[in-house]
Amino acid sequence: MTPRIQLISLDRSFLNEKYISWLNDPSVTRFLEVRHQTHNFSTITEYYDQIMGNPQNIWRAIVLGDNAHHVGNIKCTLTRYGVGEISLFIGDKNYRRRGVGTAAVRLISDIAFGVGAVKLVAFVYSSNYASQRTFSKCEFTLEAVLHNEVIDMGKRADLMRFVKYPC
Ligand SMILES: CC(C)(COP(=O)(O)OP(=O)(O)OC[C@H]1O[C@@H](n2cnc3c(N)ncnc32)[C@H](O)[C@@H]1OP(=O)(O)O)[C@@H](O)C(=O)NCCC(=O)NCCS
Repeated sequence: MTPRIQLISLDRSFLNEKYISWLNDPSVTRFLEVRHQTHNFSTITEYYDQIMGNPQNIWRAIVLGDNAHHVGNIKCTLTRYGVGEISLFIGDKNYRRRGVGTAAVRLISDIAFGVGAVKLVAFVYSSNYASQRTFSKCEFTLEAVLHNEVIDMGKRADLMRFVKYPC
């Protein structure tokens, strides 16, 4: 059984070796733009200050159970037009395919709509079936396919734009 899933504020205590190891693990970051650089304490601190310095960012740690075991992060960045872009990863692979990603997307969607987002979007590589399925399960629908938009494993690939509106 998967323990209770919560999103909690990401304070500086989350800037640790575990988080750095996730960001440097190609099996975690294959579909994430963070893969283009090597991460260390200095780079994650700089990123943290940049994200936290912008109140349009909703950034949370995904934690499980009573001891708040940290398994990944999720972020929603709101534009001035009220569109929120969601991105996430489950870094602890022991907790993949256990409903954590789906629960986290649902929770952050509720938060974003709660602060006035009028539309949510997620950009997903066309070969990222796990993410496509996760957003589809959260009632996101395919709005557009951006052809040849990215490079995946050395080849040009399509990017899929999923969207969700408030109920
Ligand atoms: C995408 C990601 C967040 C999904 O998290 P998760 O906790 O494993 O997802 P869930 O357990 O909620 O699964 C959601 C659905 O996706 C399916 N799924 C998950 N991983 C899958 C995989 N590797 N292959 C095929 N389907 C997969 C699940 O089976 C489930 O569908 P189902 O209920 O029909 O069986 C996770 O795989 C991840 O962190 N990937 C690396 C980073 C990434 O790609 N982030 C998204 C960028 S847009």
